[in-house]
Amino acid sequence: MEDSFLINGGKPLRGSITLSGAKNVALKIIIAALLLDQEVTLKNIPRISDVEELIHLIRSLGAKAEFAEKHVLVVDGRDLRSNKVDLLHASKIRTSFMLFAPLLYKFSSCFVPNPGGCRIGARPIDRIVEGMKKLGISIEYDSNTGFYQAQMKSKPSGFYEFPKITHTGTELLIMLSIFAKDKITLGNTALEPEIDELMRFLNLSGAKIQKNGKNITIQPVDKLTLDQPFEIMSDRNEAITFATLAVATKGKVDISSLHLEDIQTFIQKMREIGAGIDILGKTLLRFYYKSPLKSSRIETQPHPGFMTDWQPNWAILMTQAKGDSIIHERVFENRFSYVEELRKLGADIDFVKIPVSNPMEYFFFNFDPSKKYNQAVKIKGPQNIHGGVLNIADLRAGATLAIAALVAEGESVVNGASILERGYENFVEKVTSLGGEIKKI
Ligand code: EPU
Repeated sequence: MEDSFLINGGKPLRGSITLSGAKNVALKIIIAALLLDQEVTLKNIPRISDVEELIHLIRSLGAKAEFAEKHVLVVDGRDLRSNKVDLLHASKIRTSFMLFAPLLYKFSSCFVPNPGGCRIGARPIDRIVEGMKKLGISIEYDSNTGFYQAQMKSKPSGFYEFPKITHTGTELLIMLSIFAKDKITLGNTALEPEIDELMRFLNLSGAKIQKNGKNITIQPVDKLTLDQPFEIMSDRNEAITFATLAVATKGKVDISSLHLEDIQTFIQKMREIGAGIDILGKTLLRFYYKSPLKSSRIETQPHPGFMTDWQPNWAILMTQAKGDSIIHERVFENRFSYVEELRKLGADIDFVKIPVSNPMEYFFFNFDPSKKYNQAVKIKGPQNIHGGVLNIADLRAGATLAIAALVAEGESVVNGASILERGYENFVEKVTSLGGEIKKI
């Protein structure tokens, strides 16, 4: 199987990119579509392997999911016949645990394995399990089988305030609250635009969900129906990757179908480091290199902060910026798998300790004082990086290593292309269209 990229870097990338549909919206809305007793047509579904895995998974449960066109998926959950999520499929895709919602409504009880997905920290679902219990759902984990067993004896009700923010946790509890006994309020919810899209889909289908700052209230309804296709928004994480690629290779790339307000913090940081950004239209932005880049200090946070998904890409820009830059990761506990790899290309990047007075609150993962963490890196630049052999360990680090190889002078082999392809559609074609030399081998 071809699972590597051969990249000949060092050229400025120029041209324009139309973004694909957002992975982190498509996956949740495919699952949410199973809450409707009808066929649901979803447009702009990205053809990426995470989506393909989810389709296999829901088919294994009896649901129908067929592509009517390249990016148009028709989902029908009426024939769901199994309440047990298959371990093999679920281990490949973390969002599988969100199937609790359609399965509990359909069967009142279900079995869902401990979620898989990217290797970025322990990624427990304790807050979600606690929230389910608060809504009246009983849920137990069997460590012998690796499965959660959940039961919904009566319609959910109540109030839950997340102790710390969780993106998919917010989404799952929203889905579980749709057909409740009475009004449900969720507090301290995450604010990502991908969650707004899920709520838009559900509200268009008749749900009564209202967001008020960090609180979400859900008034119960009996049924969801949707009489029009729903279009998935474009992928802002893909946009960040191509914007970074444009500036890091000293090129110029126009990105269309991108909503400025979804990446405000990124735009602000790009401007601070001296990158060129022109707003050419409501959803059309140009990113380009205009002058030597300045170093920066970022700390990741949930939306509207600087997203954790963007920091690995940002590290490449900082190898090209003058001075010392700091990246402090607050959301996940293992999002620096790219550090060793970048060193192989000659990057001057090292872990540093940044004292934090209140780590329990500062970090969004469950901080354990007895554990040692590497949550910050210092990057010295500018540094001429050269080609090498790189290994991808997780999705966003994958895009980072591909960008690094496109910046680096000479040839690189980047192993683990399939990990990048979990979340990036037509990556090779898109980079090639910008003049990059990349092929799968
Ligand atoms: N956490 C817990 N317990 C929980 C829930 C979360 O400890 O019950 C921890 C996580 O381990 C993490 C932090 O809390 O350290 C925040 O996690 P969150 O639940 O917000 O992240 P997620 O829902 O697992 C989603 C995206 C990620 C994205 C984050 C932040 C999807 C499928 N995944 O993950 O996307 O980085 O939110 O916005 O939507 C990616 O696309 O590559 C990706 C990892």
